[in-house]
Amino acid sequence: MLILGGATQAVNSFAGDVRDGLGKAGQKELPSKYLYDDIGSALFEAITRLPEYGLTRAEERILLEHSEAIAEHLTAHGMAVELGSGSGRKTRQILEALARHKSMTYCPIEISSVALASCERELDDLAHVSILGFETEYLDGLSKAVALRKPGDAVVVLFLGSSIGNFDRGPAEEFLRKIRQTIEPGDTLLLGTDLEKPLAQLIPAYDDSLGVTEAFNRNLLARINRELRGDFDLSRFEHVALYNARERRIEMHLRSVETQTVTIEEACFTLGSDETIWTESCHKYGRNEPEEMAERAGFKCVAQWVDVEWPFAENLFVAV
Ligand SMILES: C[S@@+](CC[C@H](N)C(=O)[O-])C[C@H]1O[C@@H](n2cnc3c(N)ncnc32)[C@H](O)[C@@H]1O
Repeated sequence: MLILGGATQAVNSFAGDVRDGLGKAGQKELPSKYLYDDIGSALFEAITRLPEYGLTRAEERILLEHSEAIAEHLTAHGMAVELGSGSGRKTRQILEALARHKSMTYCPIEISSVALASCERELDDLAHVSILGFETEYLDGLSKAVALRKPGDAVVVLFLGSSIGNFDRGPAEEFLRKIRQTIEPGDTLLLGTDLEKPLAQLIPAYDDSLGVTEAFNRNLLARINRELRGDFDLSRFEHVALYNARERRIEMHLRSVETQTVTIEEACFTLGSDETIWTESCHKYGRNEPEEMAERAGFKCVAQWVDVEWPFAENLFVAV
């Protein structure tokens, strides 16, 4: 696989975002994209295999069963661009089905170099698929990839794993609108969305008994220590996964167990006892919500497939 781009300015913007997020007067927060350094990406991959985290298996079941049907809608497509591919494990089914119709260029877009490399290892053996990875942010990678499409080829954008749920609802719709503005009429979007479900099923997915999600969350503080000369004492923070019923989302936080001051590159931040740093949101959707949101953003729904064991919807939209 050829990898384009690179982590230019990454450290500077990480430092700036950490300073801004921890310096906030109200709720302190850190952007969830920083959860995915080398260790975070490995921990996320472990999360997807936990018995409590049914989300990945649900999407795998849908793609295993329906990839041929999805590909039947995409016979003119010669390029697949995947936003936040992770390891690419689930993508194999859909790429195999697409490549039976037409040779494909597959462009994984990742901020994590480790995830991008494992995606290459996972998919390198696929026949009639050439891989061109971009180590960069979602929209930057999408516009770079579509600029390389061959004449006459339509593009399918894959945004799997309900990563859309990391955006608040308004920004999620705005993000879909930006995708729409970057692609052409007739191009498509395959969007994975985790649906609302009982809390007894949902909460353990983000607070598993082995403590892998806890480690994934706390690694963000360890990453700040490693990369930004931070002095977080991890033993003074607890992992919190709560359901915000009004916003219909899981929120992950790190709770300070006592009043403490941390130093990051000479800047000091004080956290009160029980004060939290908000590290990730995972919004959950009603079954019709993805379609409504995508239609307002300039797409039309082609089909939706739902897993019943773990309510999850795979949605195929066409750009109009
Ligand atoms: C929730 S994981 C999903 C991975 C995979 N798509 C799946 O379904 O299992 C999100 C992935 O997107 C990547 N990512 C997060 N924010 C990103 C951004 N702003 N630009 C590019 N990649 C991003 C992370 O490194 C991570 O691999």
